[in-house]
Amino acid sequence: MNVMRHISVPNPQVEHVLGLMREYSLLASGMRVFASKDGDYRLIPIDSGAALTLPSELSEFSIVEHEGHPDERTDSDWWAHLRNLLGDEIVEAGGEAWPSSHEFFADMMIVRLEEEVAQYSSEIATAKLLSHPHIRLVLSDAGVLGELRIRDLTPIGARLHDEIVVENIPEEAANTRVLVRESGRSILCDPTRAYFSTKLQSERLETLGLAKELRSLLNRPLRVCDPFCGVGPALATLLGEPDLVGALLASDINPEAVEMLFDNLRRWDSKEYPGEPTPITDLHEDRIAGLADATDLQHNPELTGRWDLLLVNLPHRTIEFLPSLVPLLDRSGTSMVRGRVIVSESEMEDANETIQGTLPPRLQGTPEPTLKIKRDYSSTLRLCSFEAWIAPAP
Ligand SMILES: C[S@@+](CC[C@H](N)C(=O)[O-])C[C@H]1O[C@@H](n2cnc3c(N)ncnc32)[C@H](O)[C@@H]1O
Repeated sequence: MNVMRHISVPNPQVEHVLGLMREYSLLASGMRVFASKDGDYRLIPIDSGAALTLPSELSEFSIVEHEGHPDERTDSDWWAHLRNLLGDEIVEAGGEAWPSSHEFFADMMIVRLEEEVAQYSSEIATAKLLSHPHIRLVLSDAGVLGELRIRDLTPIGARLHDEIVVENIPEEAANTRVLVRESGRSILCDPTRAYFSTKLQSERLETLGLAKELRSLLNRPLRVCDPFCGVGPALATLLGEPDLVGALLASDINPEAVEMLFDNLRRWDSKEYPGEPTPITDLHEDRIAGLADATDLQHNPELTGRWDLLLVNLPHRTIEFLPSLVPLLDRSGTSMVRGRVIVSESEMEDANETIQGTLPPRLQGTPEPTLKIKRDYSSTLRLCSFEAWIAPAP
C-alpha cells in the first residue's frame, strides 16, 4: 500500500486543475486520477517532490492522503515490451512471478525478482526501461541487510546515451547516490550505503502534524531528537516548517548515513556541516549531530533531559531500545515519543502493554500509546507506528 497526497477537486473543475498541475509539474508520474467514494470529486495524485504548500491557485482545494492508483497505461506498456522480448509462452509461464510493481528512487527503479523469473533479469530491465523513459538505472533488490538496514542491490539494466545496457554496466550509469525530491526538499541518499525509504512520506507528514500540535501546546519551537536519523528524511520535513525546530539532535550509527546527513543538513539548515562523518558533537548552537550508538546517549548528561520530541525509527528494535531512550526526554514539560514497530498481529496487545509500561505516564486527556498498523511487512508481520504524549514529571 502506498499512501500519497492527492488534491480533491469537484468534477467540473478537474480539467482546469489538471492544467495548472501540469504547468507547475505537480502531477505524480505513473499514477492516475480516480473518483472519490461519493463520485462528486476526482482525486488527483500529487508528485511526492511537490512542496507542502501548493501554489495559491490551488489553495482552495483540500489535500487528502489516499492509497495511490497506478496508471495502467504504463503497466500495459511494460507487459507489451516484455512479451515482445520473451514471447507470450514464457510470459504466461511466469504467471504472478513477474515484477509488475517497483519502487522509484529519483531516476532509479528497484524491483524484486522472484526465483522463477530471475534468469530473465536483462529482459525485465529492458522492458522496464522502455516503458519508463525517465529511468536511468534498474536494480534488483535482494532485501535489507543487518542493523544498518542497507539494501542489497544489483544493477540489471541502465540507460546510457539513449542506449539500453544490460551487461557490464559502466560505473557512470550504475551510480546509486541520488537526490530524491520529497515535500519540496532534495534528500541525498544511497540505498546501498544507508537506509532510506521513499514510501514513508505520509508517515513523515503525520509526524509533522503531531509536532505542530506539540508546538501549540508548548508555545515555542521544539527540541527534536532523532537518534536513528539515517540520512535525515524526517528532519527534512520538520525543518521545512518555519519556527518548528528549535534545537536538534541528529545521529546514527552508520558513518555512511552520517556523511549524507551532513550534506543534507548543510542544504536544509543553511549552516556548515563537516565533510566527513564525525562522532556526535555540538556543531552549532542548537545543533548536535554525528555518529552515535543511540543506546549510549543516555550516559551523556549534556544530552539527557533535553528533548521535547523523540523519534524512534528502528522498527525491529524500538521496544527493546525504549528504556535507554526515555532519559533523553525533557520531563519538565509535555513531551512526545513517536515510534515505529514491526510486530505480528497476534503480539500487538503485548507490544502495546510493553510500550505503555516502559514510557512515563501519558498526558491527561490523551489516549494511551497504541500501535496502528500502517502496512504489511511480511505475511505475518505488520509495520506499525505509535505516538505517546508524555506528562511532565510531578
Ligand atoms: C529504519 S532506519 C531509519 C532511518 C531514518 N530515520 C529514516 O526514516 O529514513 C534505522 C536507522 O537506525 C540506524 N541504527 C541501527 N542501530 C542503531 C543504534 N544502535 N544507534 C543508532 N542508530 C542505529 C541504522 O543505521 C538506520 O539508519
